[in-house]
Order: sequence, then structure tokens, then C-alpha cells
Amino acid sequence: MKFFTLSKDIGIDLGTSNTLLYMKGKGIILCEPSVIAVNTKSQKVLSVGLEAKNMIGRTSEDIAAVRPLKDGVIANFDLSLQMLKKFFEKATGRKSFKNSNIVVCHPSGITEVEERAINEAVVQGGARKVMLIEEPVAAALGAGLPVDEPTGSMIVDIGGGTTEVATISLGGIVTCKTLRFGGNELDDTIINYVKKEFNILIGEITAENTKIKLGSACAEENAEERNMLITGKDLVTGLPRSITVTERGIREALKEPIASIIEAIRATIEQTPPELSADIMDKGIVLSGGGALLRGLDKLIYNQIHIPVNIAENPLECAVLGAGKCLEIIDMVETD
Ligand SMILES: Nc1ncnc2c1ncn2[C@@H]1O[C@H](COP(=O)(O)OP(=O)(O)OP(=O)(O)O)[C@@H](O)[C@H]1O
Ligand SMILES: [Mg+2]
Repeated sequence: MKFFTLSKDIGIDLGTSNTLLYMKGKGIILCEPSVIAVNTKSQKVLSVGLEAKNMIGRTSEDIAAVRPLKDGVIANFDLSLQMLKKFFEKATGRKSFKNSNIVVCHPSGITEVEERAINEAVVQGGARKVMLIEEPVAAALGAGLPVDEPTGSMIVDIGGGTTEVATISLGGIVTCKTLRFGGNELDDTIINYVKKEFNILIGEITAENTKIKLGSACAEENAEERNMLITGKDLVTGLPRSITVTERGIREALKEPIASIIEAIRATIEQTPPELSADIMDKGIVLSGGGALLRGLDKLIYNQIHIPVNIAENPLECAVLGAGKCLEIIDMVETD
């Protein structure tokens, strides 16, 4: 039995919206959108990350800017693998995970086939040993919750493609609900709202920007309602047109998907054993993932469920920080 050299150990959060890499002893070494741009004829990779995201909706016929993950899982294996390798190279200067031990997080409740695809992508990337960890556990660890203790912690991780609600105690998930939708669904809802209300088609990047700048889950007392000018394509004339959307209009549009998220929290709490419910009432629910940053979401959840709600310190980083903590805690031991 011998211990691995640990300096090359990597934690990965291969998310629907963002990929983050953590290197043991160094911390987070990469945070980029999970997007890859390829030439559709030669299959050559043109760019990854932010550069590729900026191409979405703006490519010519020969270029495809693709999100290779969907609903938290790998939708296009080859592109996911290529994207991951490029990110790794960008962050470390090395072309493969050779000699690295990897901890990678994935949504809970995925199928064996989906789990195998994630494992395989990392193995084909050259990893020496791979350990998979469920995203809610990683997020809870990264948010600093006492995951290993005999006390109930509740994490609600709202990512781009999944929303995971989990009660965790003694290192494991006790009750959990995974919705195969997250922030991306809120963007789609905004696209549909603008189409219906103004007869204008906007792109997904404009929708996401609108959500981030103007979106809110509930009205703030005494705060002035904000507006925003956005531009899309008039569905009648086919020409570009700018319109003003209001905070109130977007809030109304987002009501339905947000209600589904709150329903999932309620259902998970209902299934949680009484002692653990009492712990959660005491300590509150913790929100992580980019969706946690939606203005007023914490307040709306509190108003409807009457349990204190806290937003994790760095919601977008929780899962990869948890994968990193995992690397620090468990020295991966080679037994063969
Ligand atoms: N300030 C903000 N307000 C609202 N939503 C935000 C904000 N900032 C980021 N988001 C949203 O958070 C989502 C991305 O979050 P995150 O990086 O946690 O997802 P992910 O881990 O890639 O996805 P998943 O875990 O579902 O695979 C996107 O939908 C993004 O639009
Ligand atoms: Mg995530």
C-alpha cells in the first residue's frame, strides 16, 4: 500500500453552466463557462470557456458554440472531454490529468450510465484515480456545513441545469430531491415572457443578463422598481427592436419556476425525520449555486416556509470547494 503524491490532485465541478477546477494546496485554479466552440467541418476546437460563450447565438454556419452538458449531466461526451482537457491545459499547462487523483461532483439521482460517462471522461483525460461525490454533499462541505456531524444540514443548490435540495447528516444524504432544471429554465421563461408580451425574440445570453441585472423573486420594501432596455428581433417585421422590461414584469414571469423550487424544498423538509428537521429549523437552510444570487430568493423562501435561509459565502464556488475539501480530507490510497 502506498500513498499517491498529492500535489497534482484536482477537484472538478463540471457544471451545466460553469466548470471549476481546484488544485490541492493551491485552491481554485479555473472558473469558466461550460461552453466549447468547434469548427463543424474540421471538428477543430476553436475556443472554450468565456471566449466560446461570447460566440453563442453569434456563430456562422461553420462554427458551433455548444454547451456539452445538459441538466447537470454529459450530453455530448466528446465535446465534454475536449472542453475539460482544454480547461486543464489552460489552468496547469499540462495536456492531461496524468498522475492526478480526481474528485468530481455530479448531481445526485443520476443514472448509472450518466455516472459512468462522467467517470469515463475524467479517466480518458488521463486521471489515475477518480472519486465521484454528489453535488449537494460537495456544496454543503464547501459552504462550511457540519456535514460529518450527527446534525441535520439542509443545502439547496440551484445551478444552471439542476436544482438539488438535500438534508445531510453524518456525511450522507438523508432526504433529497433533484429537479432537472435550474437557472437556465429561468432564462427560457424570460425569453417566453418577452416573446408573448412584446412579440420580440431575444437570445439566451440577453435573457441571462436580464435575469442577473433585473431579476428578483420578491419585491424589496421601499426600493424603487428598476427597468432595463433590451434588444431583440421583432417577430412581425424581422428587424431589431429595443424595449423596456420592468423588474415587476420579470418577477411575475419567474413566479412559476421559482414556485417549483420552493415546492421541492417543502417536500424535502416534509420527508425529513423530526430530529433533523429540528436541527434545520435551528440552523436554517443554506442556498448555494449561481441561482442563490437571485435577488430576494432567500426572503421569499423564508416567507413561504418560515425557516431561516442563509446564502453561502461564495455560492458559485461551493461545489468545487467541497470537492477540494474532499481531496484534503481523504488521502486517496492505492490498495493494489
Ligand atoms: N446574480 C445572479 N442572479 C441570478 N442567477 C444567477 C446570478 N449569477 C449567476 N446566476 C445563474 O446561476 C446559474 C449558474 O450557476 P452554477 O455555476 O452554480 O451552475 P452549474 O453548477 O454550472 O450547473 P449545475 O450544477 O446545474 O450543473 C446560471 O443559470 C446563471 O445564470
Ligand atoms: Mg453546480
